[in-house]
Amino acid sequence: MKAGNLKDYLRNKARKEDLDYLRRGFEIIGDIMIIDLPDHLLYLKHDIIQWVMMKHRHVKTILRKTGEVSGEFRIADYEILYGSETETIAREHGCRFKIDVRKAYYTSRLSGERERIARKVKFGERVLVMFAGVGPYPIVIARLSKPSEVIGVEVNPEAVRYFEENIRLNKVGDVVRAVPGDVRAEVPGLEGKFDRIVMPAPYNADEFLSLALIKIKEGGNIHFYTFAGEEEVQEKREWIIKEIEKRGFSCEVENFRECGNFAPRVNRYVYDIFISEAP
Ligand SMILES: C[S@@+](CC[C@H](N)C(=O)[O-])C[C@H]1O[C@@H](n2cnc3c(N)ncnc32)[C@H](O)[C@@H]1O
Repeated sequence: MKAGNLKDYLRNKARKEDLDYLRRGFEIIGDIMIIDLPDHLLYLKHDIIQWVMMKHRHVKTILRKTGEVSGEFRIADYEILYGSETETIAREHGCRFKIDVRKAYYTSRLSGERERIARKVKFGERVLVMFAGVGPYPIVIARLSKPSEVIGVEVNPEAVRYFEENIRLNKVGDVVRAVPGDVRAEVPGLEGKFDRIVMPAPYNADEFLSLALIKIKEGGNIHFYTFAGEEEVQEKREWIIKEIEKRGFSCEVENFRECGNFAPRVNRYVYDIFISEAP
C-alpha cells in the first residue's frame, strides 16, 4: 500500500478539523521524527505511527512533544511513541551533527538560515557564535566559508559535549573551538575582537546585545535573533539602533527577516546589523 500524504492517509479515520491541525508540527532530525500531537488527537497515534513507518522508512524513533522548548537550555519534553533511541545524527550542508534531542537544542528548521549567514562570512574572518548549542552555526560556517577562527560559547554541558564531538566528526578542529560556560562570564575574557558575531539567542536575547558590542570590530557585523510580535518588528529595529548608539557606536540595520514561528503572531526575527563606527 502506498502511504501518500498524511492527510489522505487519515481521511477516513480523523475528524476534518483534526486533519487541518496535523499539517503543522512535524520535524525530522536524523532518524527521529518529532510530532506535535495534542491530547485530543491521541486517538490517531497508531495510524500516524503506521504512516510514518511507510512514508519515512529511515525513521527509527517517533517522539511526541509534551512540553514547549523552555528553560535556559531550550529543551522540550518528549514522550516516546515508537522506538527507543533519542540520539541521532542530523545532516545539513554536508555536515553531520550528533545530538540527543532530550539533552540539547537542535532544529533542522534553521538550516537555511545557517547557510545564509555562512555565505556572508568572508575569507579570514574571526567569528563568534554566542549560544552555540551542539555547534551547527560554527560548523556550517567553517565548512561553507573560509574563516580564520570560529568560537562558539554554550552553557549547557551536554550541548558542549556534542559540540566538541561534532567538531571532530566534521574535521573542523583547526578552525572551530567550543568554549563552555555562560556568555556573560566567558565573552568578556575572549581574546581580541571579532569581525562577525552571531547571536542565535535564547528567549531573553535583548539582554545580551550590549555584550556583543564589547567584542565587535568597527566595520563588523552582528546577526541578532530575537522574538517579537508581528506588530513590534519595526519598534524592535528602532530599539536595537538606540541600544547600540547609546553606547557610542554607529550602525545600520541592513536587513531583518522572519525565521521561524514561536506562537500565534509571534515570530523569531533576525536583524543583520552593520557596525559602521565604534567608539
Ligand atoms: C535556541 S538555542 C540555539 C542553539 C544553536 N545555536 C542552534 O541553532 O542549534 C539557545 C542555546 O543557548 C544556550 N544558552 C542559553 N543561555 C546561555 C548563556 N547565558 N550563555 C551561553 N549559552 C546559553 C542554551 O543552552 C541553548 O543551547
